[in-house]
Amino acid sequence: MLENIFKKGFIYECIISTRNDNKTFNFAPFGVYFHKNFVYLKMYKWSNTLKNILREKCFLINIINDGLLFLKTLLNDFRDIEYVVSKNIKLPIIKNCSAYFECTLDTIREYKDHYFLRGKIVNYMIYEKCFINRGYNYCIEIAIKISRGNFNIHKELEIIRKTTSYDFYRKIKNLIFKIRNK
Ligand SMILES: Cc1cc2nc3c(=O)[nH]c(=O)nc-3n(C[C@H](O)[C@H](O)[C@H](O)COP(=O)(O)O)c2cc1C
Repeated sequence: MLENIFKKGFIYECIISTRNDNKTFNFAPFGVYFHKNFVYLKMYKWSNTLKNILREKCFLINIINDGLLFLKTLLNDFRDIEYVVSKNIKLPIIKNCSAYFECTLDTIREYKDHYFLRGKIVNYMIYEKCFINRGYNYCIEIAIKISRGNFNIHKELEIIRKTTSYDFYRKIKNLIFKIRNK
Protein backbone atom coordinates (compact mmCIF):
# COMPACT_ATOMS: atom_id res chain seq x y z
CA MET A 1 0.00 0.00 0.00
CA LEU A 2 2.87 2.40 0.76
CA GLU A 3 4.07 1.87 -2.84
CA ASN A 4 1.11 3.98 -3.99
CA ILE A 5 2.19 6.83 -1.76
CA PHE A 6 5.96 7.03 -2.12
CA LYS A 7 7.35 7.32 -5.65
CA LYS A 8 9.93 4.76 -6.71
CA GLY A 9 13.44 6.23 -6.60
CA PHE A 10 12.41 9.35 -4.69
CA ILE A 11 14.12 10.40 -1.46
CA TYR A 12 11.93 12.17 1.09
CA GLU A 13 13.21 14.64 3.66
CA CYS A 14 12.11 13.80 7.21
CA ILE A 15 12.92 14.51 10.83
CA ILE A 16 14.06 11.45 12.74
CA SER A 17 13.41 11.08 16.47
CA THR A 18 15.73 8.89 18.52
CA ARG A 19 16.59 8.31 22.18
CA ASN A 20 19.93 9.54 23.53
CA ASP A 21 22.16 7.65 25.94
CA ASN A 22 20.83 9.77 28.83
CA LYS A 23 17.16 8.99 27.85
CA THR A 24 16.45 12.48 26.44
CA PHE A 25 15.20 12.67 22.85
CA ASN A 26 17.07 13.76 19.74
CA PHE A 27 15.61 15.14 16.51
CA ALA A 28 17.51 15.56 13.24
CA PRO A 29 16.78 15.88 9.50
CA PHE A 30 17.57 12.98 7.17
CA GLY A 31 16.65 11.80 3.68
CA VAL A 32 14.71 8.52 3.58
CA TYR A 33 13.86 6.13 0.77
CA PHE A 34 10.65 4.13 1.27
CA HIS A 35 10.09 0.74 -0.33
CA LYS A 36 7.31 -1.66 0.67
CA ASN A 37 7.46 -2.06 4.46
CA PHE A 38 11.05 -0.87 4.69
CA VAL A 39 12.92 2.42 4.85
CA TYR A 40 16.49 2.96 3.64
CA LEU A 41 18.91 5.57 4.97
CA LYS A 42 22.43 6.63 4.16
CA MET A 43 23.95 8.00 7.35
CA TYR A 44 27.38 9.57 7.71
CA LYS A 45 29.27 8.26 10.68
CA TRP A 46 29.35 11.34 12.87
CA SER A 47 25.64 11.84 13.69
CA ASN A 48 24.06 11.29 17.09
CA THR A 49 21.07 9.83 15.31
CA LEU A 50 23.21 7.04 13.88
CA LYS A 51 24.78 6.29 17.28
CA ASN A 52 21.32 6.23 18.87
CA ILE A 53 19.90 3.91 16.22
CA LEU A 54 22.84 1.49 16.49
CA ARG A 55 22.43 1.41 20.28
CA GLU A 56 18.61 1.40 20.61
CA LYS A 57 17.76 -0.44 17.35
CA CYS A 58 14.77 1.81 16.66
CA PHE A 59 13.87 5.25 15.31
CA LEU A 60 10.80 7.24 14.38
CA ILE A 61 10.40 9.09 11.08
CA ASN A 62 8.36 12.29 11.18
CA ILE A 63 7.14 13.68 7.86
CA ILE A 64 7.10 17.41 8.44
CA ASN A 65 5.93 20.16 6.12
CA ASP A 66 7.67 22.98 7.99
CA GLY A 67 11.02 24.20 6.66
CA LEU A 68 11.80 26.07 9.87
CA LEU A 69 11.69 22.86 11.89
CA PHE A 70 14.33 21.34 9.60
CA LEU A 71 16.61 24.28 10.40
CA LYS A 72 15.86 24.23 14.12
CA THR A 73 16.49 20.50 14.51
CA LEU A 74 19.70 20.77 12.49
CA LEU A 75 20.82 23.47 14.95
CA ASN A 76 19.74 21.35 17.96
CA ASP A 77 17.08 23.85 18.95
CA PHE A 78 14.30 21.56 20.21
CA ARG A 79 12.64 24.14 22.51
CA ASP A 80 9.41 24.58 20.53
CA ILE A 81 8.94 20.97 19.51
CA GLU A 82 5.68 19.56 20.80
CA TYR A 83 5.28 15.80 20.65
CA VAL A 84 3.54 12.74 21.98
CA VAL A 85 5.34 9.46 22.64
CA SER A 86 4.57 6.64 20.18
CA LYS A 87 2.84 3.42 21.19
CA ASN A 88 5.36 0.77 20.20
CA ILE A 89 8.90 2.09 20.30
CA LYS A 90 8.17 5.00 22.67
CA LEU A 91 9.74 7.75 20.57
CA PRO A 92 8.42 11.28 19.93
CA ILE A 93 5.82 11.90 17.23
CA ILE A 94 6.08 15.59 16.40
CA LYS A 95 2.77 17.42 16.73
CA ASN A 96 1.18 18.40 13.40
CA CYS A 97 3.35 16.01 11.39
CA SER A 98 1.87 14.87 8.04
CA ALA A 99 2.79 11.27 8.84
CA TYR A 100 4.97 9.18 11.10
CA PHE A 101 6.64 5.78 10.86
CA GLU A 102 7.81 3.72 13.82
CA CYS A 103 10.81 1.69 12.67
CA THR A 104 13.10 -0.97 14.04
CA LEU A 105 16.64 -1.46 12.75
CA ASP A 106 16.63 -4.37 10.31
CA THR A 107 20.03 -4.48 8.61
CA ILE A 108 23.16 -2.30 8.48
CA ARG A 109 26.02 -2.17 6.02
CA GLU A 110 29.18 -0.27 6.87
CA TYR A 111 31.19 1.78 4.37
CA LYS A 112 34.24 4.00 4.83
CA ASP A 113 32.47 7.16 6.01
CA HIS A 114 28.82 6.10 6.21
CA TYR A 115 26.39 3.31 6.90
CA PHE A 116 23.45 2.10 4.85
CA LEU A 117 20.59 1.21 7.16
CA ARG A 118 17.42 -0.67 6.46
CA GLY A 119 14.58 -0.13 8.90
CA LYS A 120 11.40 -2.14 9.17
CA ILE A 121 8.19 -0.13 9.53
CA VAL A 122 6.34 -1.61 12.50
CA ASN A 123 3.59 0.98 12.69
CA TYR A 124 2.64 4.12 10.82
CA MET A 125 0.02 6.81 10.43
CA ILE A 126 -0.51 9.11 7.46
CA TYR A 127 -2.59 12.19 8.18
CA GLU A 128 -1.97 13.95 4.86
CA LYS A 129 -0.03 12.97 1.77
CA CYS A 130 2.36 15.86 1.96
CA PHE A 131 5.94 14.66 1.56
CA ILE A 132 9.01 16.80 0.89
CA ASN A 133 11.29 15.85 -1.98
CA ARG A 134 14.18 18.17 -2.89
CA GLY A 135 13.90 17.36 -6.60
CA TYR A 136 10.36 18.75 -6.75
CA ASN A 137 11.50 21.95 -5.05
CA TYR A 138 14.35 22.24 -7.55
CA CYS A 139 11.86 21.97 -10.45
CA ILE A 140 10.36 25.20 -9.14
CA GLU A 141 13.82 26.79 -8.91
CA ILE A 142 14.50 25.74 -12.52
CA ALA A 143 11.14 27.14 -13.63
CA ILE A 144 11.96 30.47 -11.97
CA LYS A 145 15.41 30.60 -13.57
CA ILE A 146 14.03 29.75 -17.04
CA SER A 147 11.29 32.36 -16.66
CA ARG A 148 14.14 34.87 -16.31
CA GLY A 149 15.96 33.45 -19.34
CA ASN A 150 18.64 31.79 -17.19
CA PHE A 151 19.54 28.25 -18.30
CA ASN A 152 22.42 27.82 -15.88
CA ILE A 153 20.69 24.96 -14.10
CA HIS A 154 23.34 22.24 -13.72
CA LYS A 155 23.27 22.34 -9.93
CA GLU A 156 19.48 22.01 -9.83
CA LEU A 157 19.51 19.12 -12.35
CA GLU A 158 22.11 17.30 -10.28
CA ILE A 159 19.88 17.49 -7.18
CA ILE A 160 16.94 16.20 -9.22
CA ARG A 161 19.11 13.32 -10.46
CA LYS A 162 20.15 12.43 -6.91
CA THR A 163 16.76 12.68 -5.19
CA THR A 164 14.21 11.45 -7.75
CA SER A 165 13.94 8.53 -10.16
CA TYR A 166 15.91 8.16 -13.38
CA ASP A 167 12.64 8.44 -15.42
CA PHE A 168 11.68 11.68 -13.71
CA TYR A 169 15.17 13.12 -14.24
CA ARG A 170 15.10 12.19 -17.96
CA LYS A 171 11.65 13.74 -18.32
CA ILE A 172 12.85 17.05 -16.87
CA LYS A 173 16.01 17.05 -18.99
CA ASN A 174 14.04 16.38 -22.20
CA LEU A 175 11.56 19.07 -21.33
CA ILE A 176 14.30 21.63 -20.78
CA PHE A 177 16.04 20.57 -24.00
CA LYS A 178 12.77 21.21 -25.89
CA ILE A 179 12.24 24.62 -24.30
CA ARG A 180 15.81 25.66 -25.00
CA ASN A 181 15.59 24.66 -28.65
CA LYS A 182 12.23 26.25 -29.37
C1 LIG B 1 17.25 18.23 4.83
C2 LIG B 1 18.45 17.51 5.39
C3 LIG B 1 18.65 16.19 5.03
C4 LIG B 1 19.76 15.48 5.55
N1 LIG B 1 19.94 14.19 5.18
C5 LIG B 1 21.00 13.50 5.68
C6 LIG B 1 21.20 12.13 5.30
O1 LIG B 1 20.42 11.53 4.54
N2 LIG B 1 22.27 11.48 5.85
C7 LIG B 1 23.14 12.09 6.71
O2 LIG B 1 24.09 11.44 7.17
N3 LIG B 1 22.96 13.38 7.09
C8 LIG B 1 21.91 14.09 6.59
N4 LIG B 1 21.73 15.39 6.97
C9 LIG B 1 22.65 15.99 7.93
C10 LIG B 1 22.23 15.70 9.37
O3 LIG B 1 20.94 16.19 9.64
C11 LIG B 1 23.25 16.42 10.29
O4 LIG B 1 24.49 15.74 10.24
C12 LIG B 1 22.77 16.55 11.72
O5 LIG B 1 23.65 17.41 12.40
C13 LIG B 1 22.68 15.22 12.46
O6 LIG B 1 22.22 15.53 13.75
P1 LIG B 1 22.45 14.55 14.97
O7 LIG B 1 23.94 14.57 15.23
O8 LIG B 1 21.66 15.17 16.07
O9 LIG B 1 21.94 13.22 14.55
C14 LIG B 1 20.65 16.12 6.44
C15 LIG B 1 20.43 17.46 6.78
C16 LIG B 1 19.36 18.15 6.26
C17 LIG B 1 19.15 19.58 6.65
